[in-house]
Amino acid sequence: MMVPFANEAFTDFKEARSNAEYETALRLVEAGLGREYPLVIGGERIMTDRRIRSVNPADFAQLVGSVSQADPALAEKAIQTAYETFAAWQRVEPRERARYLYKAAALLRRRRHEFSAWLTYEAGKTRAEADADTAEAIDFMEFYGREMERLAQPQPLVRIAGEDNELSYLPLGVGIIIPPWNFPLAIMAGMTAAAIVAGNTVVLKPASATPVIAAQFVELLEEAGLPDGVVAYLPGSGGEVGDYLVDHRLTRFVSFTGSREIGLRINERAARTATGQRWIKRVIAEMGGKDAIVVDEGGDPALAAEAIVASAFGYAGQKCSACSRAIVHESVYEDVLERVVARAGRLITGNPADAATDVGPVIDEKAHRSIRAYIAIGRKEGRLVLGGGTGEPRGYYIEPTIFADVGPGARIAREEIFGPVLAFTKAASFEEALRLANDTDYGLTGSVYTRNRAHVEQARRDFHVGNLYVNRKCTGALVGVHPFGGFQMSGTDSKAGGRDYLLLLTQAKVVSEKM
Ligand code: NAD
Ligand code: ALA
Repeated sequence: MMVPFANEAFTDFKEARSNAEYETALRLVEAGLGREYPLVIGGERIMTDRRIRSVNPADFAQLVGSVSQADPALAEKAIQTAYETFAAWQRVEPRERARYLYKAAALLRRRRHEFSAWLTYEAGKTRAEADADTAEAIDFMEFYGREMERLAQPQPLVRIAGEDNELSYLPLGVGIIIPPWNFPLAIMAGMTAAAIVAGNTVVLKPASATPVIAAQFVELLEEAGLPDGVVAYLPGSGGEVGDYLVDHRLTRFVSFTGSREIGLRINERAARTATGQRWIKRVIAEMGGKDAIVVDEGGDPALAAEAIVASAFGYAGQKCSACSRAIVHESVYEDVLERVVARAGRLITGNPADAATDVGPVIDEKAHRSIRAYIAIGRKEGRLVLGGGTGEPRGYYIEPTIFADVGPGARIAREEIFGPVLAFTKAASFEEALRLANDTDYGLTGSVYTRNRAHVEQARRDFHVGNLYVNRKCTGALVGVHPFGGFQMSGTDSKAGGRDYLLLLTQAKVVSEKM
């Protein structure tokens, strides 16, 4: 009998022992930097001449690893192998499939700081952010394993006399897993684990900025005994290999998390029927956000300021859930702004490997350039009250940046910046604040700080986001506790980490036998 699911506790980095253990893990990982990683198809390791170089965003002269890069011929081989493996994998008992996840979770738990240290080197995550990412990966595997076991039980149906009726959840087939780089362990592992425990085989195309952590995870699955061919590891360029995989006639579903631009492209391409294709492809697409924290008249300014800073600048604002807009009632606007600026001004930006660092680098040169461009736009659209600069030139650093008095039509109030940039907007009433919060194409997370019960109810009803928080920050959804997914252009609202998720990766079959 399995113990009920419980979230993995976070490491307390206020304890000296935790920091000492983390530093040991950093040294261990540092000794392994620069390795070359092959593609893995059907258990076969394939080295290619073309490579993706993964560098440390805090020090881009440091090579984290170099991974082999697939071309369309290798993508074809990966899909064919996944298709052949599906014939056997779909018949493996759900409980057995779940056990591979439990074993992988156990292995990951044992090597928790080591995996987190990879996240520090490859994704620029501070200790606490990396630790939360690894904990979430463990949670996803434990949670989806139990979910599959639940779905494999006899399902409740209305019974009628003279017939035996049964509903069972069958896998779909070959899936393409396309994760983002910003939760390079948790989201990548969660998307992969959910698909395979449901009985599908997958081709995992990792994000090009973080392919090494994905390679480590695939090695972990092998160590857990997962049969060859269930997961292919296939790094490659989005335009070349990504399109090929999405368009393929044997692709049954695409599970994507990333930008709106690429999500819509995948959705469109997957809707076309390839010659010989025998199904409608399913697309799960979780995309960007332009998330707001609303502070009401009488909302606690100190608590709101703490939440705004944590949500806006945690992982340098590179979360789909990040607060990029603070919409504040005019009666508390100056107070909240002052507190946020003071608090954010005390954040230490620097190398995420250092225990004291609060804000690490952004992921790469392209992101650095794009965020700087938004800061230049912000200087025209608002009043710069904090930051605006870059940092140590060996890494992709951007200071926590705040613009005050930003109008609702401003680009920095409407477009996803995906960096440590926050726009403050003043509202004359709670109604106006909610209207401004909803005035976006996105609809992922949102938060409201208020002590007014009627306003809580109003926000529950009218704040149109997939994940609404009341009197708490808008980041940090927990598996099983806060199933996660967005409305509108934030995606297909798949609710990762929730009871509906595996249904997206299965098809229900009903058998009715006359007695
Ligand atoms: P991205 O869209 O640039 O890349 C995502 C993935 O798509 C990568 O693996 C990339 O290699 C791949 N890709 C690129 N072109 C492709 C193509 N033509 N075909 C197939 N695959 C292709 O996004 P990103 O920069 O990695 O991630 C940041 C974005 O992800 C932000 O917009 C963020 O809000 C979003 N995000 C959303 C969620 C969520 O749950 N809603 C979670 C995390 C990140
Ligand atoms: N699930 C992540 C969060 O809630 C993105 O912050």
